[in-house]
Amino acid sequence: MSIQPDIKVIVETDCPIATINPNIYGHFAEHLGYCIYGGIWVGENSSIKNNRGIRSDVVEALKKIKPSVVRWPGGCFADDYHWRDGIGPGESRPRRINLHWGKVIEDNSFGTHEFIEFCRQIGAEPYICGNVGSGTVREMKDWLEYMNSLKDSTLAQERAANGSLQPFNVKYFGIGNENWGCGGNMSAEYYANEVKRYSTFLHPFGEKPLYKIACGPCGDDANWTRRFFEALEGHLGLIQGFAAHYYCGTSGTATEYTDTQWYDLLHKALKMESLLLKHRAIMDEFDPERKISLIVDEWGTWHPVIPGTHPRFFHQQNSLRDALVAALTLDIFNRHADKIAMANIAQLVNVLQAMILTKDKNFLLTPTYHVYEMYAVHQGAQSVRCNINTDEIHFNIEDETRLLPRVAGSASMKNDLLNLSLVNTHTREPIAVELDIRGCLSVQVKEYRVLTADDIHAHNTFNEPERVQPVSKSPTEIVEENLIVTLPAASVNLITCKIKVKDTK
Ligand code: AHR
Repeated sequence: MSIQPDIKVIVETDCPIATINPNIYGHFAEHLGYCIYGGIWVGENSSIKNNRGIRSDVVEALKKIKPSVVRWPGGCFADDYHWRDGIGPGESRPRRINLHWGKVIEDNSFGTHEFIEFCRQIGAEPYICGNVGSGTVREMKDWLEYMNSLKDSTLAQERAANGSLQPFNVKYFGIGNENWGCGGNMSAEYYANEVKRYSTFLHPFGEKPLYKIACGPCGDDANWTRRFFEALEGHLGLIQGFAAHYYCGTSGTATEYTDTQWYDLLHKALKMESLLLKHRAIMDEFDPERKISLIVDEWGTWHPVIPGTHPRFFHQQNSLRDALVAALTLDIFNRHADKIAMANIAQLVNVLQAMILTKDKNFLLTPTYHVYEMYAVHQGAQSVRCNINTDEIHFNIEDETRLLPRVAGSASMKNDLLNLSLVNTHTREPIAVELDIRGCLSVQVKEYRVLTADDIHAHNTFNEPERVQPVSKSPTEIVEENLIVTLPAASVNLITCKIKVKDTK
C-alpha cells in the first residue's frame, strides 16, 4: 500500500545560497558555574582522566561534533577578566571574586594557555573576548601581543617562559561583551566610540589578519544596530564582525511542559530568522558589500536551573525539546548561510543549553549534542534552496493564537552528497513528507537518521545516559520509491542522499 504524502519538500540542488560557514556550528565556554571548572578543567592531579588538566571524556565527545570555534572567557565574565591573572605558575595566580556568577572564588587555574590547549585538543579555533567594560586599551593590546607576537618582544618572551615559544595565532577577537548591559551599560554611540579607540590599537601581531568582532544587539533591538552603525560610519573597516545575542528562553521548565509550552518554545526559537533578516537589512544600509559579517555569538534556551543547584550557575537539564530548538535554529542558519558567518550556542558544558553535563566523574551527552553530531555534515557544505509547503500548528497562548510550521528544515550539498535535515514539530503526530529533489539526474537515499523519543519530555540522566540518542534506519524501511519519508512526531531527521548532478558544460 502506498503512503499518501501530507506535505512536499522541494530541494533545488541547482539553486545555491552560499557555503555554510563551519563557524555557525561554534560554541561558547564561560567562567560560569561548572562550565570551565568541573566541566572542562579538572587539573592534572584529578582522579578524573585528563590530558594536561582537561577532561578526556569531554574532549573525545567534542571532537566528534567538529567544534569549529570556541568563544571564551565570557560572556559577562569577559568584561571583568584581566588576562594577566591567568598566566604563569598556577600557585601564584590570584584568587578573584567572580562578580557576575555567584561571587564565587575564581582561582584562575584555567587561563590563556589552558584555553588554547583545550582548543588544540578538540580541534577548534579560539575566539577570545576582550575586556572593554573594566579594562584598558593597553591591556587588550598587550594580550594580543602576548598571544600572537612572532617578534622577540618582552611579551612574547614571557609567553615562551610560560611554556609556548610558538605564538597562539588567535584570529577571532571580541571587543567586549553585551556592552549595552553587563559590559558597561553603554549607549550605542558611546560603545561605537570605544570600538574605534580600542580597534585602532588591536594589531594582529602575527601573520594572520585579525578578525575583530563588535558587540551587537540584544535580541531584536534594531535601535542598537542602527545607532551603532551610524556612530561607526567612516570607520567600518575597524571591525569584521558584529555579534547579536538571542536566547529564546523557556516555557514551563527544562523537563516539565505541556504540549502548548512545547510549541511556545519552538515558536520563540524560530524568531531567530526574523532577527537575522532585521539586523542584516540594517547592516546592509551601511555596509552593502557585507564586509562586516553578522554573527550570533550567544543563543539557546534558558530554563530554570536544576532544583538544588546555584541560581547563578544556570545548570539546566536538556530534553528532546532543546534538541528541536537546536535543530530549528541551525536550519535557519543553514538557510541564511549568505547572511551569517558565525554562531555560538550557550554553553559548552553544564551551563544553559549544554552539549555535555558532568558531575564529578559522571558524564552525559545531551539531546542538543546529538543534533550537533548529526548536523556536522552541513559544515562547509553548499546550502541549497529548500522549500517546504507545510501546514501550521495553531496553538493558544496569552489569549492569542500562534502558528508554528509543522515541518522546517534545510538542505546542503557537498561533493555528490545531499544532506536534508527536517524537523517534525508536532508533539504527537507523525507526518509523511514527499521529497522532490530537483536539478539533478539521479537521487539515491544512502542513510536516514532520526532523533526522537516516545515521550516529549525525554532527556538523558547519569542513570540513563542514552535515553535520547539518534538511531539509523535503513533507507528502504522508511523511503518508498517515490521518496516519501514518514517523520516521527517530535523528531529531528537527517536524510543523506547520493545525487548525480547535471553536467552544466
Ligand atoms: O551565557 C550567560 C550570559 O548571558 C552571558 O555571560 C551574557 O553575555 C549573557 O547575558
